[in-house]
Formats: sequence, C-alpha cells, structure tokens
Amino acid sequence: MSTPTTPSDFPDDFLWGGALAANQYEGAYDADGKGLSVQDVMPQGIVGPRTKAPTPDNLKLEGIDFYHRYAEDIALLAEMGFKVFRFSIAWSRIFPKGDETEPNEAGLAFYDRVLDELEKYGIEPLVTISHYETPLHLAQTYNGWADRRMIGFFEHYARTLFERYGKRVKYWLTFNEINSVLHEPFMSGGINTPKEELSERDLYQAIHHELVASASATRIAHEVNPDLKVGCMILAIPFYPLTPDPRDVWAAKQAERDNYTFGDVHVRGTYPGYFLRKLRDKGIELDITEDDRRTLAEHTVDFVSFSYYMSSCETATQEREASGGNLMGGVVNPTLEVSQWGWAIDPRGLRTILNDYWDRWGKPLFIVENGLGARDELITGPDGVPTVEDDYRIDYMNDHLVQVREAVADGVQVIGYTSWGCIDCVSASTAQMSKRYGFIYVDRNDDGTGTLERYRKKSFGWYREVIASNGGSLKA
Ligand code: BG6
Repeated sequence: MSTPTTPSDFPDDFLWGGALAANQYEGAYDADGKGLSVQDVMPQGIVGPRTKAPTPDNLKLEGIDFYHRYAEDIALLAEMGFKVFRFSIAWSRIFPKGDETEPNEAGLAFYDRVLDELEKYGIEPLVTISHYETPLHLAQTYNGWADRRMIGFFEHYARTLFERYGKRVKYWLTFNEINSVLHEPFMSGGINTPKEELSERDLYQAIHHELVASASATRIAHEVNPDLKVGCMILAIPFYPLTPDPRDVWAAKQAERDNYTFGDVHVRGTYPGYFLRKLRDKGIELDITEDDRRTLAEHTVDFVSFSYYMSSCETATQEREASGGNLMGGVVNPTLEVSQWGWAIDPRGLRTILNDYWDRWGKPLFIVENGLGARDELITGPDGVPTVEDDYRIDYMNDHLVQVREAVADGVQVIGYTSWGCIDCVSASTAQMSKRYGFIYVDRNDDGTGTLERYRKKSFGWYREVIASNGGSLKA
C-alpha cells in the first residue's frame, strides 16, 4: 500500500468500489442446480416468520436478476470507475445441499463468467465466502454452525473456491458480519433452533465452530496460493456511554467487547480474557480441542474488514430507550439524526472505529459496507431519462468519506471502501426493495412489480468523480 503524499490524501492504490451479496441481488434462486439457502425461507427478512419452503412473495428469489444481467451491471460499475467489487458466492450454487463431495459445475461456471467481466474492466474482486447464505439443508439437518461437522463442510467449500478462483481473486472474506450470529442465529449461522430456545452455550459453541472454520479457511487459502489475502468481517458499531457515569462507560465497553471478541480471535489467535471470564460467569464450558487452539493461533487474518452504518449508546443507569439499527440495537443517542429506518447517522463514528481497530489490531483495514438506506423517487431527468435526485445519499457518503480521510491522516492504514448496495438490492433485514442504497436505481417494487431496468442516480456521477479524483472532490 502506498503512503499518502499529503496527510489528507487517500493512498494512490486505495480500492474504491461497492458491495453486494448473492442472496440480495442474484435472483435465480433455483437456476442451474442451485439449492435453497436459509434466505429462501425468510420472505420478510428478519422481521417476519420463517416459512417451510420458498413463497412467491419472497423478493430475494428474483433479487435484481444479476444472475442474468451481470454483464450490463458490471459495465455500469466500470463506468463509475470502480477499482473493486465486493460480492459473495452463494454456497448453495456450489454445493446445493452443502454436504456433497462434488461441486455443481454450473454454479462454479457462473462465477467464472462474473470474474471474466470484472477482468475485462480491471476491477479487483473481493469475495465473501459466506454472506447469510448457509444452504438450507445444513440448517435443517445439522442445525447449522451449532454442529462441529460444519467446519468440514465449510473447509471443503472454501478449498473448492480457492482452487477454482485463487489465481483470479486475491482478497477474500470468510463470514459476513460474523458477530451478527449473536443476534440472528438463523440468518447468520444457519442455526435452526428458534432464537428464544437456543441456549447460550450452544450459541457460543456455534461461534467457536465458525471461528475455527474461518481460521482453517485462511490456512487453506495460504496453502493454495500464499499471495491470497484473507480477512475477517465484523459488523462494527461504536457504543458510547449515554452519560459520563462510570457505570455507563463500563456498559458501553462491555457492548463493544461483544463485538471485539470476534476480531480479537481472528487477529490474535486466542480468546481474550474478558470473554473467558464471561463464559466462566455463565458457567459455560465450550468444547475446544487442542487442534482448534492450534488452528486459531497459527492462521490469523491478513486484514480486518467491517461494515459501518451507525453508532449507538449504552447505559446501566438510565431508562433504556431502545435504538433501531443494524441487527444489534442499543440505546438512542439523543445527539444524532436517524435515517428513515431509524439508524443513527454518525460519520465521526467511522473515524472512531477506524482508529480503535487500528490501535487494537494494527492490521490493514477495509471498509466493506457503508451507506444510507433511503426511499428514492424516480423522476424524469433533464435528458428525458429517469433518475433520482439523491442528494441525501451524497451528503451521507461524502461526510463518511471525509472521516475516512481524517483517519488516514491519523495514520490508520485503510485499504479501501466498498459502499453497500451499489446497485439497489433487496434489504437483508426487512426484505424491502424500497430501502435503497444504490448509485443505480433498479425498477422493482416491494410488491415484486417493475421492469428491473437500471437507471443512474445523481450519486452515480458524484461517486465517479470521487473515484476519479481519488477523494479530492470530497467536501470537508
Ligand atoms: C449489513 C449486511 O448488515 O447491512 C447486508 O451485511 C445488509 O447484507 C446491510 O443488506 C444493510 O442492511 P439492510 O437491512 O438495510 O439491508
């Protein structure tokens, strides 16, 4: 990574781009031998009940049809000057049930075609191996990550990917927002037991399995090609004490530690003392083998990636006013505005996280999700072509990127930034289309109607300029 030429510059090789996840944009949920994933029985995201089988009102089944429109979509990303595109591979396209020995060639071939397109434009791929897409069979038959056998299935899946794509894909992420399993065990960990019935011991054991699988995948990646870079991916939320009362400060620290645990293990290779104490206090004993310990210790990550949308508060002394937010809530921060979905808007929190993670782990950082979910209105532009005047999105992203630049000036090593949902896609939490993040509008509505046509929003041109100027066009 190059050193910035002036303290306020982004590095010359900064990776600008955007991110998406298979289950939210590919569609074609059963095409070419694909199996079902946990998402296919969550028609309303995390806010509604699970169904037994896919239902026609599940928007994710069709997504935005990237499966058939990938060439057109990648051309649009290239037009914006993308240096990197983060996407996930749908596990159930490669192993429809998850526990097979032989992969599904048609699924592998699809991602070859996607990589061909990216190569055509010189866009670096950043691949998430598992983004809330555990094959449904693994959830139903093994109870997902609660079962140790998942480690072997994941190793086999990861090896298959590294061997197939390891010459073309340098940057890999193991599990999307691995810490989210604390809050969404089914979506994140394929754990079929209803959340209310899941014991804390089983949850922490599942987490342990995922952590070992992540380290194991890092080992395999480096075996296949020592040049590969593997990162963990954490849902980052800074927690502020609601008041200066030391009890609130401690409550905020504890909330942050719930998330730090995951990075601590990935980077340091051992469980931190505060986590072991928590287990002791709860009387939980985990099944951790000597092999597990060795794997964790010897195969730590090359970099740390994270999503950042919001901050939150914590308190042990005041009445708790629960905040809305990205899978894990907290307490409302009265000093911040919120998005239309109640997520606190806090650009400075991003600088805080970047500094905290860098101070704590000293590993290169990659911001792999950030953005504003908002309702957009499609209007006719001056040239007669439909567009969206999304100044609110431009403001949000500008202000966050200015804080990234500040963090770079603080000495934090940041590899890149991929905004979330660069093309409108189906929301993970609410399964709505109307919660839009993209630079590219997709004509699809919450009721499933729409042509799926793509239109450039105002933010499309804005981001193109940001990339072309390597951040020089940002307004402080
Ligand atoms: C992150 C997930 O939590 O937030 C994405 O990794 C998700 O999959 C994104 O889409 C935004 O959340 P939502 O619920 O607005 O789609």
